[in-house]
This record gives sequence, structure tokens and C-alpha cells, in this order.
Amino acid sequence: MPPLMQVNSVSGSRLSAELRENAAFGTVFSDHMLVADYEDGRWGEAEILPYGPMPLPPSLSALHYGQSIFEGFKAYRTADGGVALFRPRDNLARLNRSAVRMAMPEVPASIFLEGVAELVRLDRDWIPYREGGALYVRPIYFATDEVLFVRPARRYRFCVVTCPVGPYFSEALRLVAEEHYVRAFPGGTGDGKPAGNYGGSLLAARLAQERGFHNVLWLDALEHRYIEECGVMNIFLVIGGVAVTPPLTGTILPGITRDSILTLLREMGIQAEERPIAIDELFAAHEAGRLTEAFGAGTAAVVAPIASIRFREQDIHLSTPWTDSIGAKVRARLMAIQTGRAPDEHGWLMRL
Ligand SMILES: Cc1ncc(COP(=O)(O)O)c(C=O)c1O
Repeated sequence: MPPLMQVNSVSGSRLSAELRENAAFGTVFSDHMLVADYEDGRWGEAEILPYGPMPLPPSLSALHYGQSIFEGFKAYRTADGGVALFRPRDNLARLNRSAVRMAMPEVPASIFLEGVAELVRLDRDWIPYREGGALYVRPIYFATDEVLFVRPARRYRFCVVTCPVGPYFSEALRLVAEEHYVRAFPGGTGDGKPAGNYGGSLLAARLAQERGFHNVLWLDALEHRYIEECGVMNIFLVIGGVAVTPPLTGTILPGITRDSILTLLREMGIQAEERPIAIDELFAAHEAGRLTEAFGAGTAAVVAPIASIRFREQDIHLSTPWTDSIGAKVRARLMAIQTGRAPDEHGWLMRL
């Protein structure tokens, strides 16, 4: 059992209503951060410190060999005036699956859950009041050895920072199917959240943006044929009234939003399937008038409508009015649960 947490709070908060309500996603950080170190085979005391720079050496092993993973979830203001974290235990479980894959020790639930709860309670005034606003919680976990041996490190740091955020996208997404670069491959790390997965995807995203798209539609690594994810979100396609998402076969991040949406769709009486979808099947379904909508799913955007998909100079344009869509309905239902406006029948909220 790790020792109890210390809180070294500061007076003189940087909080202002302007920063809290209008910050662009991930650009403003609240007053405190959680830090816990692992050394000599055990975790030390978690501490809450004023948010700020951490002196670290250039020999830091995370920078050389990439043992660096992260998570992301949100704290919401609830209708009864409280605050709740959405499915934080699932993020802890996913962090620890990433840790095992990267040969890192697991982070104890006491440090992660109690640490985040204490941090969010302390900085609760940073949670936006605006519609769609939340405090984004970003745990990061990385190796801190100061040697150049290529081996799993012996020292690590776990840290959590938080940011006030609002809605992530302002317009429906234009995607281009990526046939050259891949995000993940069988036996790789695509079903976890190591920082390197994101580093390896940035060039494809930038090239897509230079061509006027928002991001890429990732295809599988072996055949460049099966749809995997869209940008940094899971994808749902509505084909013949059935909501379809690719199955979790090791190259797709098991999104917590994806899982929540699958549960809610089935409760709403909408058939939902997890099965492989080839890009040619998607174009054929569109041609036959059976593809009615597509949307991305992830913590940041919750549900993001997709306006178009390009593949080899051919375009799919999706014109279903968003307000009548399955995506809009499931988004509204999920957001009602997250903000305590609908009953939490699945025990997804951790109330603070
Ligand atoms: C690659 C990728 N896919 C999907 C997701 C969606 O996961 P979640 O719903 O847990 O945020 C994310 C965000 O974490 C992601 O980075």
C-alpha cells in the first residue's frame, strides 16, 4: 500500500472565468498536478504540487527509448451541483495494460484514483460551466532512468495534469483514407496509448491537413483495406440502419467512448455490430444508399460527425441532417449521463 498523499497547495491561483470558459483544447492547465515516483521496486508517496516545470535530465530514458504512456478522461459538473469523473477505473485499467505492454510496472489504483479525485477536488473551480465543458484529466507515465542501457527502466514517474476544455470540433470531419502510412500493426502497440503511437501518426495527419482534410481514416497494416480508426478516435458507420464499428483485434484502441456508445445504442434499440469493414464495402454501401452516417468517438469530442471520406480520388459525402442522426441521439444520451442529467445505470460516474 503506497503512503498517503501530501498536498502542497499554493495560494495565488491563475484561475479566471475567461481562461476557464474559453481555453482552446489542451492549452491551459489548472493550478495543480499530481506526481508519484517509482524506485527500488516500489511506489513512493504521491504528492500534489503547484503546476509547473519539472527539472529532468537529458539522459532521461523515456526520451531515448520511449517508455512513455498516457491516458485521457474528463471530470464533469453534474446537474445536482456536484462533480463526477467519467469511467476513471477503465482508464486506470487501460493505462496498466499499456504499462504491461511497455514493460513498465503497474500504477496502483490508490495512487491513480485517489490522486485524481484529490487533484480534481482541489482544482474544481477550473471546471467550465459552459455546455459541453469539462476538466480534461491527462495522466502521463514515463521512465526516468539516467542511463543509456536499452532495457526496461528501473525508475518511473507518474504525473497527472488537468485542463479546462470545451467542445473539440466545430465542423463535421473531412477524412482521407491513408494507404501508405499505418497507425498500428498486429503484434504492435496500437491497442495501447504509448506516446510513440501518436508521434508516428503525426506526419500522415499533417499531410492530410495540407490537402484540406481534417485527418486520416486509418486502414489496416496488412491489406490497407479494412477501416480501423479516424484520426485519434474510434469510428462508427451506420449501414442499413445498423451501427457498425471495427472489432478490437489488437490494432485498435479500446476506446471508453466506443464501449459506452455500443452499450447505449443497444439500449436505444439500435442494432450495433463489431465487425471488420472494408473500404470497398463502405463505398458499395454508399453507392447503394445504405450508408447513412459516420461518426468518430472519443473522450475529447465525445461524438464527432463525419462529413466526407476520400479514397483514391473518390468521395463519399454524408448529408443526413445531423440533428436527426443516430450519432446525435447517442451523443445526447451519453452527455446526459456524464453530466448527471440522466440516471447512471451502469455505474460509470465516480462522484467526488
Ligand atoms: C487512437 C485513439 N483511438 C480512440 C480513442 C478514443 O478513446 P476514448 O474513448 O477512451 O477516449 C483515442 C483517445 O484516447 C485515441 O487516442
